[in-house]
Amino acid sequence: MTQNAKAVIWKLKPKMDRRFRGGHPWVYSNELAGSPKGVELGAWVELRDAKDQFLARGFGNPHSLISFRAVSRDETLIEPGSLQNLKQSLLRAHQLRELAGMSRLSHRLIFGEADRLPGLVIDRYFLQSGHQVFVIQAHTAGADRLISSVLEVLPELTEVWEKTAVVLRNDVGVRKLEGLEFQKVNVLREVSGLNLGEVEILVKPVMAPFDRPVVFSTDLLEGQKTGFFLDQYSNIQLAALRLGNLKPKSQKSKLKILDLCCYVGQWGAQLARVFRAQGIEVEVTAVDSSEKALQFAQKNIEREGARCQTLQVDVLRGLAELPTAGFDLVICDPPALIKSKKDTGPGAHAYLQLNTQAARLVRPGGGWVSCSCSSLLTDEEFAHALTKAASRNSMDVRWLGRGTPSADHPQLTEFPEGRYLKCWIGGVI
Ligand SMILES: C[S@@+](CC[C@H](N)C(=O)[O-])C[C@H]1O[C@@H](n2cnc3c(N)ncnc32)[C@H](O)[C@@H]1O
Repeated sequence: MTQNAKAVIWKLKPKMDRRFRGGHPWVYSNELAGSPKGVELGAWVELRDAKDQFLARGFGNPHSLISFRAVSRDETLIEPGSLQNLKQSLLRAHQLRELAGMSRLSHRLIFGEADRLPGLVIDRYFLQSGHQVFVIQAHTAGADRLISSVLEVLPELTEVWEKTAVVLRNDVGVRKLEGLEFQKVNVLREVSGLNLGEVEILVKPVMAPFDRPVVFSTDLLEGQKTGFFLDQYSNIQLAALRLGNLKPKSQKSKLKILDLCCYVGQWGAQLARVFRAQGIEVEVTAVDSSEKALQFAQKNIEREGARCQTLQVDVLRGLAELPTAGFDLVICDPPALIKSKKDTGPGAHAYLQLNTQAARLVRPGGGWVSCSCSSLLTDEEFAHALTKAASRNSMDVRWLGRGTPSADHPQLTEFPEGRYLKCWIGGVI
């Protein structure tokens, strides 16, 4: 490896540039011509092909199997990490969320590779109280080195900086793959009187009218992810569109929704709003293993005028004993059940078992939504698990829609790793 005063230069082995030239942002260590050792974690690196042609500048990491992550392919952009360029990247990302109609309420502002800032996550929460909170996560060493610059740029993105808090949530295990430590939650900017452990965030409703946001109580310090699963917004919207004509089984009963792995109840609350707008009373059974999530779910679902029963149950063990079947709509959104390649077999089996139980609880004529956020589970494997789960229940399911991560989690055709979230929306005949 060559190291000059300006930049470290890494070269690819001959014929190893095809995927990268096709737009994929990563280079693996075995594709490099020399050893990446001796470079600091996350340092800026210039990548060249075997013939010494410039390819990109980005983050280098000798500790990780993914040695290089592209930030810029523009040879004239000598310092992609400068404050000015970072500001440009954040503004571009903001414009994209604006285009998608997601910039005025809580959304993901930066989604790593898709926003050309590999491993950096910034979620922007709008609060009922008029405050805003940016929650930042650095999954890569390169992103880790950008944090102080991000802090300098953020004030330019909001008109209410004096009412804006910033939290660094580097309490994620994935950092270990990059040689980074798991860190305690760190409030980088406090706002007096704001309790980040229980806030009321404002989320766009999935259906018109859009002028009254859906309010969710959640914990931005210790809640899962950065405090909320923003990626599910468009899937809830698709389910509302495709299954929005569901009716309760009889005129006297309420529409019964089972929300499995509900976290703070966004599916139940959003869909309660949709059905209640049609004059249909809703009863949500919210299931999760986390007691704290269930407390929030109850509050959030009841705020939308639905009845809510919570059950603290391990869905991988306890669903067979769930007393009530015959739900009008069952949503199943478990955590990633495949964490690493070696878990693929047992993980795929867990999806089958769980979905077999979930499908059993849908009444004929009802709706079934099933999600997987395991990037290691392929589309085909997930479809296979759903087919088998339906068949084990002698159930005829017609799939009415398939979802993806929301528009604030943009996708790159050339980066399949970004398409981790799968969602199938079906009608049971
Ligand atoms: C992917 S998140 C669900 C997100 C939620 N549906 C939403 O859209 O906001 C997975 C949820 O499953 C819960 N969970 C994890 N393992 C579980 C288990 N074995 N049984 C029940 N819930 C579990 C977690 O507490 C978390 O709330």
